[in-house]
Amino acid sequence: MISVGLIGCGEVAESGHLPTILQSDRFQLAAICDVDPARAKLFSDRAGGVPQYSDWRELLAREHSLDAVVLALPPEISPDVVVEVLRLNLAVLDEKPIAVSVAEGRRLLQAVEEHRGVYQIGFVLRYGDWVEYIRQLAPSLGLPLQINVEVYDERYNPDDALHLARIQSFIRNSSAMTHEGSHVIDYVSLWNHSPWRSVSAVAQQTSPSFSGPNVWNSRIEFDDQSTLDVKIGWLLPELPPSTITVNGPEGRLDFNCVTGVGHLEVGGGEQAFALPPLAPHWERQYRTFADAIDRGSADLATVSDGVRALEVTAACELSATSGLAVTPGSLAAALGLTGNVQRPARHTPRSTGPERIVEAR
Ligand SMILES: NC(=O)c1ccc[n+]([C@@H]2O[C@H](COP(=O)([O-])OP(=O)(O)OC[C@H]3O[C@@H](n4cnc5c(N)ncnc54)[C@H](O)[C@@H]3O)[C@@H](O)[C@H]2O)c1
Repeated sequence: MISVGLIGCGEVAESGHLPTILQSDRFQLAAICDVDPARAKLFSDRAGGVPQYSDWRELLAREHSLDAVVLALPPEISPDVVVEVLRLNLAVLDEKPIAVSVAEGRRLLQAVEEHRGVYQIGFVLRYGDWVEYIRQLAPSLGLPLQINVEVYDERYNPDDALHLARIQSFIRNSSAMTHEGSHVIDYVSLWNHSPWRSVSAVAQQTSPSFSGPNVWNSRIEFDDQSTLDVKIGWLLPELPPSTITVNGPEGRLDFNCVTGVGHLEVGGGEQAFALPPLAPHWERQYRTFADAIDRGSADLATVSDGVRALEVTAACELSATSGLAVTPGSLAAALGLTGNVQRPARHTPRSTGPERIVEAR
C-alpha cells in the first residue's frame, strides 16, 4: 500500500480525494492537514482517526512512513509545499492550477527536474471517455481544427455563503480562466499537440460585488492554424449546458457535456453518440498516480502540462487587461521572464480510459 498524506481539507478534497483514497486498494491515508482545525478534525474522523495537523511542515516532519502527498490547496499556497515535498523525495499529486504565475510554475518545473520527482497534476477531467473519444477522432477531422469549449460552472447562489467565498477567493487570487480554463487547455492539448502562437481574451465582471471577472471569452491560436475558443461562465444565476464542438475540413462533432449526447459527421456519414457526461474520474486519476509511483515518474498530467496550461491562461489574463493579442514572446517580455515560455503539448499516445472507444460504439 502507498502511504499518503492529504494536505488541504476543502471542497475538492471532501468530494474527490478523501473518498477515493479511503476506497482505494492502492493507497492508505496516513495523516491529514488543514489550517482550519475543524476541517482537519472532520477528515480525521471520517478516516478513522488518522493523525491531524494544522501545519503541513509539522506533518512532513513527523510522518516518516509517507510515500506520497496529495495537495488540495489553493494555487497561491501550494508551490512552497510542493518544493518541500519533492525535496523529501515523496511523490506528489497536486491540484490544478499548479500556481498563480508562470514564474511559480517554472519554479515547480525546476524542482521536479532537480529532484527527479514523481509529480502529477490533478487534471482529473482528462480521463473522461469523451476526451479519449475526441482524441481518437480528431485526426479524421483534418487540419486546421476549430475547437469551441463552453464551460458553465459554480452557479451563483447568494444563500451559499461558503461557496461564494471560495469562488471569490479563487477570482481574487487568480482567475476563473486559470482555475477552470487550465482543465480545458489540458484536455484540448490531447487532441491538438501544436504549440500556441497567440491569445486574445475578453473578461467580464457581471456584478460589482464579485472580486474580479467571472465570464471569459478567450481565443487561442496554434502554429498549425487551429483555433480554440474557450468561454468560461462562473457565478451566473442560471447555467447553460457546457458544450464542445470540434470542426475540421473533413468533419465535425459536437458534444453536450451535461447530457453526454453528441453528434458526429465525418467521411460523408453522420451518427449520434452517447458517452458518460463530463465528470471527474477520481479512480482513474489515482490509478494513474499509483502507476507513476511504481514507475518512478509521472508521464500523464505532468509538470510540463501544468506549466503549459499556466502560460496560456496567463496570456489570457494579460490579453484581457491589456486589450492586446499576446504571443509567447510578448508574454515572456511582460512577465520579465527569460527564455522561451512556449512548452509544446506532449503527445500522449496511451490513455487510462477504455481503449478504442471509437470502434467500440
Ligand atoms: N480537479 C478538479 O476538478 C478541482 C475541482 C475543484 C477544485 N479544484 C482545485 O483545487 C484547489 C482547492 O480547491 P477547493 O475547492 O478544495 O478549495 P477550498 O478553499 O474549499 O479548500 C482549500 C483548503 O485548503 C486549506 N488551506 C489553505 N491554506 C492552507 C495551508 N497553508 N495549509 C493547510 N491547509 C490550507 C483551506 O483551509 C481549505 O480547507 C483549487 O486550486 C481548485 O481550483 C480542482
